[in-house]
Amino acid sequence: MRSASRRCSVPSVSSPITRRRFIEKLGAGTLATLALWHELRAESAVPAAPPPAPGTPSDDLLAAEEAYFADFAKVFTIADEHKYLVASQKGSMPIPILRHFKEGLDRIARDPFPVYLEPSAVTRAKIAKGYGARVDEIAISRNTTDAISQILHGLDWRAGDEILCSTLEYPNCVATVRRVAGRFGLAIRQFGVPSRPDFSAEEIVESARRRIAPGKTKAMFFSCPAHPSGVAMPVRRLARLAQEHGITTVVDGAHYGGMFVPRLDETGIDFWGISGHKWQCGPGGTGILYARNARWPANPNPLPRFHIVRSGDLDAPTDGSRPEGFDLGAALSVYGFPESADWRALGEVCEFWDEIGRERIQNYILALADYARAALAAAFGEQAIVQPCRDPELRSGIVAFNPLPEPAQRRDPNVARAFQSGMEAAGYHVGCGGTGLKGLTRPPDPDAADFFDLCIPNRDPETNRPAPGDIPFRTGTPAWCNRDDMDGFVGACAEVMKKVIG
Ligand SMILES: Cc1ncc(COP(=O)(O)O)c(C=O)c1O
Repeated sequence: MRSASRRCSVPSVSSPITRRRFIEKLGAGTLATLALWHELRAESAVPAAPPPAPGTPSDDLLAAEEAYFADFAKVFTIADEHKYLVASQKGSMPIPILRHFKEGLDRIARDPFPVYLEPSAVTRAKIAKGYGARVDEIAISRNTTDAISQILHGLDWRAGDEILCSTLEYPNCVATVRRVAGRFGLAIRQFGVPSRPDFSAEEIVESARRRIAPGKTKAMFFSCPAHPSGVAMPVRRLARLAQEHGITTVVDGAHYGGMFVPRLDETGIDFWGISGHKWQCGPGGTGILYARNARWPANPNPLPRFHIVRSGDLDAPTDGSRPEGFDLGAALSVYGFPESADWRALGEVCEFWDEIGRERIQNYILALADYARAALAAAFGEQAIVQPCRDPELRSGIVAFNPLPEPAQRRDPNVARAFQSGMEAAGYHVGCGGTGLKGLTRPPDPDAADFFDLCIPNRDPETNRPAPGDIPFRTGTPAWCNRDDMDGFVGACAEVMKKVIG
């Protein structure tokens, strides 16, 4: 555990005087958020300094950045609690943006006539800027599940095509994959992504490569980061592999936006579904649908045909094609009267992230996750880490672990649930379990019986035989947290574990 002398010496994030004073002065919206931020920085005990150089070791980065992110934490009400680590469930809106959101709802309630508080093209442009995309490639969706559903239902499938998925897909999207497969007569193939700490990016690519059926595999679908183990799948390498075979790529980026630097056009991926309300900290029920709409250096392949499943745009093509310059993002964002206060808030939170610096946020989150993993390994042994993490390319801010010592305990759903409830009682929400029986490996997969409840439903990358992983627990390292929070979390794990196994 860290000694008290290494604590950063900034004013306490939860200092009531500081917080009250700032909140009284607050306006609403992006400008108010930026004003608050700049004021916090001007008054900060920490002098303005550029972010650490790329490649700075995690410990040095945290030492240099923790005070800066203590200021960041003051922009959120959540910082008072300091135990909320699960941005992978839902994020929290920065205070002035939350105010503007509420003000927007009030305004609409007083005069419900206007459809948009802010033209959606303006909001989409704000998102596109931060996400490294063109505005015509960005649509506002309800969330990740909605975006992925529109994308997978919209691909130009033919009976007998195959969809290649990782074994780590989230249940909502597994449901969509299965419905799309049933509707169009597709075969579903899986590639394994073992959760060993030393599993490498190249092994993931090779695992996917082995499962491609040339001429039959039409699309590849995977998450980055993936839900059960938090592994950040090597998007760019998988995009290149797919392009070599003329395969369309679809990525579930529920945890990508707000955690990573999202230069979407540079990833070479064809379609992304991204959550607005998790790490990106926008309102619930907001998401981003990205559809590549040009030939980019990272993906010069022709645009895949794409059927628009949901749009009120009368001029949108009806045959899956799209003429040069067609604003696909606009067409996909026309679906009746939205609750536009939440759209506007999503654009505003994206602007705020850009101002802080997405790379800075990403590097802090990843360094804090390194710290959390090291603390868990120090407390419970190396086996406590149940995710690939030695290859830096695969790291994310989702920390998957299991502190239980015995193999049987690590696979026992009752013990797992007892540990999760114990952590809840100790004040920590903890994600519990892989996709287990809700993953792609459930019936009608012929190997379904080899997987157990809450396991990480993996397959051997070479043989494709079932290789279920231990039950994972998950915490996260959102940028409003620091090393003390992680120490507190690991200490609570030790206490709870003692109670659970005696
Ligand atoms: C990988 C993954 N995809 C999709 C979702 C669903 O996200 P949303 O609420 O944005 O639809 C989750 C939720 O945790 C997830 O972990």
